[in-house]
Amino acid sequence: MVIKVGVVGYGTIGKRVADAVLLQPDMELVGVTINSYNYRMSSAARAGIRLFALSSAASFPVPIAGTFKDLLAACDVIVDCSPKPQGLKNKEQYYLPAGVKVIYQGGEKAPVGQASFTAQCNYEQCVGLDHVRVVSCNTTGLARTIGAIDARWGVASAHVTLIRRAADPWDSHKGPINAIVPELRLPSHHGPDLQTILPHIPIMTSAVIVPTTVMHLHTINLRLRNIPTREEAIAYLGGTQRLLLVKGSEGLVSTAEIMDMARDSGAKRGDLMEVAIWEEGINVVGDELFFHQAVHQESDVVPENIDAIRAVMGSMSAQESMALTNKTLGIYAGKQTTTVVQKAMLTK
Ligand SMILES: NC(=O)c1ccc[n+]([C@@H]2O[C@H](COP(=O)([O-])OP(=O)(O)OC[C@H]3O[C@@H](n4cnc5c(N)ncnc54)[C@H](OP(=O)(O)O)[C@@H]3O)[C@@H](O)[C@H]2O)c1
Repeated sequence: MVIKVGVVGYGTIGKRVADAVLLQPDMELVGVTINSYNYRMSSAARAGIRLFALSSAASFPVPIAGTFKDLLAACDVIVDCSPKPQGLKNKEQYYLPAGVKVIYQGGEKAPVGQASFTAQCNYEQCVGLDHVRVVSCNTTGLARTIGAIDARWGVASAHVTLIRRAADPWDSHKGPINAIVPELRLPSHHGPDLQTILPHIPIMTSAVIVPTTVMHLHTINLRLRNIPTREEAIAYLGGTQRLLLVKGSEGLVSTAEIMDMARDSGAKRGDLMEVAIWEEGINVVGDELFFHQAVHQESDVVPENIDAIRAVMGSMSAQESMALTNKTLGIYAGKQTTTVVQKAMLTK
């Protein structure tokens, strides 16, 4: 079965999801939408990706394959990567009348989907649904690590400080350029968002925005029900899929060097889809586990979107889908099996 996929919005996330769909043996990229004409649309056209116009009134200097409605009619699943809150508007105006399945992004509020999604935590819960929301880059990073640790040792409570990038590297419009901006709402929206995936974990989050574009950094403190040694925690996190242990002793002392390593790896656009955790920064004190992790905001949600497509279509099990996504996108597949993690999560 080949799943026909359309991508609505070809920006930071949309162009990466479209490229990832093109690498899947069980998917066909029907096309992407064009809103305004810009360098991204010209790149898509050069790559042979079919463009469907959001507005039939507009004319563009690139070939247009059809209208938005033509795209919806030709697809099994739409991945909506439009700017928030356009996904909700598209749902009401276009997707529900067209009867198409849709994956939304984390900028949308949780109720846009019937469930929120992180593959390692709740793939099974989303099988066969019509409207699913992949959580934000920050929440995806938190769900991957906190979900895995909860499955292994049980997380009694979580405290997280998020140090957030101000803008994506291409974005010349946003700031701050010389300030640190605290989120005055406590908890920040990330804690309640994580609870859409892991509702049983009490979590407190606070956040600040800093003048950097490359990654987010999370400082995480988890109170555990069963206490591992520091060495056991390192071995487990180092063997879990979609996480990557990095070492300050190898020169990876900040987010800048981690992204430099990702560029050196030859990954397309220098993306890093795994969550990076500093090995030296992992520690267990009393019943608490501490660590720092870094999230490449432009790409960590891409594999989640691919798995979400298979979940809503019910075409593969969680384990099969994640294994195929990891393989096709070159993501670290881990040492222990997903089944162990998934089963532990499900039997809670
Ligand atoms: N960027 C991140 O770090 C990140 C990470 C995780 C999740 N997300 C979420 O992903 C979603 C997309 O964010 P993004 O950063 O990829 O945005 P983006 O880079 O600004 O791209 C948005 C795309 O949507 C198009 N668009 C504009 N208006 C539209 C409309 N009415 N209908 C359909 N498409 C429209 C834009 O076209 P034009 O260029 O013509 O305006 C552009 O191609 C948001 O929910 C965001 O919160 C973003």
